[in-house]
Amino acid sequence: MSKSLKLLLTAATLTALGTAASAQTYGLGREALPEEVAAWDIDIRPDGLGLPVGSGSVLDGEDVFLELCASCHGDFAEGAGRWPPLAGGHGSLASDDPLKTIGSYWPYLSTVWDYVHRAMPFGDAQSLSDDEVYAITAFLLYMNDIVLEDDFVLSNENFGDIVMPNADGFYMDDREESPLWGPREVCMTDCAESVEITMRANILDVTPDDAAAREAREGGGAEAVEEAATEEAAEDPNAIDMELAEAGEGLFRQCSSCHQVGDGAQNRTGPILTGIVGAPAGLVEGFRYSNPMQAAAEEGLVWTPEELHAFLENPRAYMRGTRMAFRGVADEADRNAIIEYLRSVE
Ligand code: HEC
Ligand code: HEC
Repeated sequence: MSKSLKLLLTAATLTALGTAASAQTYGLGREALPEEVAAWDIDIRPDGLGLPVGSGSVLDGEDVFLELCASCHGDFAEGAGRWPPLAGGHGSLASDDPLKTIGSYWPYLSTVWDYVHRAMPFGDAQSLSDDEVYAITAFLLYMNDIVLEDDFVLSNENFGDIVMPNADGFYMDDREESPLWGPREVCMTDCAESVEITMRANILDVTPDDAAAREAREGGGAEAVEEAATEEAAEDPNAIDMELAEAGEGLFRQCSSCHQVGDGAQNRTGPILTGIVGAPAGLVEGFRYSNPMQAAAEEGLVWTPEELHAFLENPRAYMRGTRMAFRGVADEADRNAIIEYLRSVE
């Protein structure tokens, strides 16, 4: 039973005692029925207390998810439109561009179970069976790479074995003691000797840096940039078209929640992509590829611009079962720009 409910009942009990003592009855209220208490008492604690007996598999979860959740949260839980993504963002919390999802951010799996059971699908809350909630939770674990086997079955028995990646990422509010927050003089006037601009908002993509990048971001613009630039590049077909690459850098933002490039790049949800154009597939060290990607790598797949176009246009249609949970880049000019950007970060 949740703490707040207990407090509420305690308050009610005290009122009842008070009333009895003064021998007055107001005729208000009655004791809650056990069924009523049970209907409210649905919270699941981090240690699993409150979980009903039940189970569900990743594959069953995928079916329910596609039917009831994907219209808002995307086929791969990557989020559709402005609806929240439920997968990805791992390792991004301390970056400039953190992506908080139930996988990257939530410390306890019990909250996922509870939230889905209590509140989803949006508009038809509490319509799912317990087994469906187990199955969906298993599917969400799989989409977050927290479980890696697609035949995984989640149940009330193995629930406690799952450790969420950000389980240690929370600590008690220390503002009272921490010197970082502690009391100090706050300057209100003439606080800095001089003011200099050290960073611009375009790192957040707020202020477009130039017309070309702005156009590219607004969509379709890469085409114009490309046209303008192909003339220059005509002499050496291998020369990198910097203007196009720059437009691609803006578009790469849709990849960067999963992929890093350049100095200090690390594998995240997806492998490092430095030098990927022209490189064999499936070879980034330390990255665990899906079975179909490993098979394609063994058959000698090389990421030529043509193959990249085909893959990026619709990853799942190109490679059934790929773990790249991304709907693709439909616009050819946008793909050109992204590939040019990837060429520029050799
Ligand atoms: C009609 C759109 C819609 C559908 C369908 C839907 N959701 Fe949601 N979902 C939302 C919205 C909106 C929120 C954010 C609610 C909020 O923040 O108050 C959300 C939030 C969530 C969250 C919490 C995400 C977070 O990081 O805070 C989870 C988990 C979730 N939904 C799971 C599901 C599951 C599982 C289903 C299918 C059974 C589902 N949703 C169906 C709209 C939808
Ligand atoms: C939601 C996370 C995600 C997003 C977004 C994403 N990818 Fe991926 N990407 C992956 C994963 C995971 C793999 C590994 C796929 C596999 O093993 O089946 C991958 C694989 C790749 C590969 C093959 C790498 C190799 O070593 O063979 C390329 C190329 C690639 N992604 C490019 C992109 C580009 C370009 C974008 C943006 C337009 C993008 N990805 C967006 C997750 C993502």
